Amino acid sequence: MLVRLIYASHTQDAISGKLIDDILAQSQTRNPANGITGLLCYSQNTFVQVLEGGRAEVNKLFQLLAQDKRHQDVTLLKYEEITERRYANWAMARVALDKLNMSLLLRYSDQARLDPFSVSGESTARLLEALAEAGALCSRD
Ligand SMILES: Cc1cc2nc3c(=O)[nH]c(=O)nc-3n(C[C@H](O)[C@H](O)[C@H](O)COP(=O)(O)O)c2cc1C
Repeated sequence: MLVRLIYASHTQDAISGKLIDDILAQSQTRNPANGITGLLCYSQNTFVQVLEGGRAEVNKLFQLLAQDKRHQDVTLLKYEEITERRYANWAMARVALDKLNMSLLLRYSDQARLDPFSVSGESTARLLEALAEAGALCSRD
């Protein structure tokens, strides 16, 4: 049984390159063994992450994530059972939103700023899909 979970969180300070490197190193080491794929999108002090995989594995990771002191306000945006993965090629892809064409953001939100806390989970899911289609994903710098 495959599921896809999307959540958002905040960090206390602006997200640094080191924080991203640490998280991606951890994710790209651990996720393949747990059958997890997905995408980590960030801007300023906000994260949005998509986790795909088996229900038990995704739920377990979400519980670990919710206790991780490197971010706060961990908020579930969307949870669904799926028949196929969208990010199958990515142990954990990264997207730095600030470097991208802001018009994509405007398509799904009332301002050109990543604020998953004020739009619907569906809008955020669509934004992430549009980013993937625009070829904005990468693994690590
Ligand atoms: C924004 C964010 C995203 C994360 N993504 C993942 C991930 O995709 N996979 C993973 O194994 N750990 C991820 N982590 C790290 C986990 O929160 C946790 O530290 C890790 O699973 C190790 O937990 P443990 O050493 O207590 O078993 C992420 C942490 C943060 C702050």
